[in-house]
Amino acid sequence: MGKLVVGVSVVCTAAVVCGVAVLLMKRRMKNSGEWGKVEALLKDFEEKCATPMGKLKQVADAMTVEMHAGLASEGGSKLKMLISYVDNLPTGDEEGLFYALDLGGTNFRVMRVQLGGNEKRIVKHEVKEVSIPQNVMAGSSSEVLFDFIATALAEFVATEGDDFHLPPGRQRELGFTFSFPVKQLSIASGTLIKWTKGFSIEDVVGQDVVGELAKAMERAGLDVRVAALVNDTVGTLAGGRYNNPDVIAAVILGTGTNAAYVERAHAIPKWHGLLPKSGEMVINMEWGNFLSSHLPVTEYDQNLDVESLNPGEQIYEKMISGMYLGEILRRVLCRMAKEASLFGDYVPSKLKIPFILRTPDMAAMHHDESADLKVVGNKLKDILEVPNSTLKMRKIVVELCDIITSRGARLSAAGIVGILKKLGKDTLKDGENQRSVIAVDGALFERYTKFRNCLEETMKELLGDTADSIVIELSNDGSGVGAALLAASHSQYTDLEES
Ligand code: GLC
Repeated sequence: MGKLVVGVSVVCTAAVVCGVAVLLMKRRMKNSGEWGKVEALLKDFEEKCATPMGKLKQVADAMTVEMHAGLASEGGSKLKMLISYVDNLPTGDEEGLFYALDLGGTNFRVMRVQLGGNEKRIVKHEVKEVSIPQNVMAGSSSEVLFDFIATALAEFVATEGDDFHLPPGRQRELGFTFSFPVKQLSIASGTLIKWTKGFSIEDVVGQDVVGELAKAMERAGLDVRVAALVNDTVGTLAGGRYNNPDVIAAVILGTGTNAAYVERAHAIPKWHGLLPKSGEMVINMEWGNFLSSHLPVTEYDQNLDVESLNPGEQIYEKMISGMYLGEILRRVLCRMAKEASLFGDYVPSKLKIPFILRTPDMAAMHHDESADLKVVGNKLKDILEVPNSTLKMRKIVVELCDIITSRGARLSAAGIVGILKKLGKDTLKDGENQRSVIAVDGALFERYTKFRNCLEETMKELLGDTADSIVIELSNDGSGVGAALLAASHSQYTDLEES
């Protein structure tokens, strides 16, 4: 009996061992099949995101064509080419105490700056950053949003120290950077055309945003005059020009993306007003809404767009900017996990949460230079709750970061070349030795080194010899200072001082 038991148990053990071996073999085969699928999905994605020179040149040309169309008539292009009413950029002579308020991303900033004229320039400046609660950004009301802003501004004004000087009897003045598409009615008024970048507050659309802010300031008991309403691109251009007279355009690469540049007034057919004194006008392109059949749009981009708060809009922005790069990565990883068991035989539940992968985390993974991709491993563990990622998995993640970021950076470079073409500055003219500077601001450009390097490399590839005369310059927080400078040049007291 004992023998029989032993015999049976031996047979059983043998069967179990055999079964496990077969299972392991099957799993290994399955895994190698699945890795094949992962690699196929990766290759397919890479091909669809490709931006060879020929394509980039088509994108740049399309940008130039759309710029012409948008300038020719209202609604003539997906590019709105908005007139900013800024026809005089800062000279350096600006003087006095000015405030700036910057709304356009998940944080908003208040700033005061003491301008000391040509000699002393920026004597002192102070900034405070406040993060905007999600429930204020979307689904609230105009009153909630603007009361939130006005309250923060009032608190900030109350902390003004003795080293800031407002001449007696004068009202404080403010430059309001409102980084959304606005139809300007004058330098200090304009109506919101639509929200972008995850903002959605219905009753502000179509309203004069300065009027709404003024009402909220009154409710907060704050006596400040809005002297200039500007887009962040326009603020950056103004701030850039203050430091460097060669600045001709500004680009924002942050939560969203956009560009502004100085246009000759006679090249703006839709401009029915008087020709500006200077013969120039800053145009806010709203290039985030650029669309062209040459853009390498994938099914991941299409799905992201359909499920976004603004479907069908800001397609270029959704392929480039900081709000979306991490989300594209999440979508590709999610598909790889579902269809090709990238992380084993489960799909991490966190991976199903939209926007859980933020672009700064993506940048940290992309910049990981350790042999075992430790940072990638930690991010996968901390954010997606993938406890034991293998090196192979981590490498796939890095390759995806590279594909997504290179596409975004290269498309931005093509956009900039489109602007240079419009201005006739994409080729060297005989005898001309003029440098042109593009001021760039935004965390994506500032902090995502691989994005920035790729953009700069691509500019060189696209421009060839001309590249030496084009400078891409980081304009750190140019938009805040720029708005204050524009408030100074549009101050109610300016004429008083000149006369
Ligand atoms: C979005 C806005 C635009 C802004 C850009 C950068 O594209 O529509 O106005 O300039 O983001 O912040």
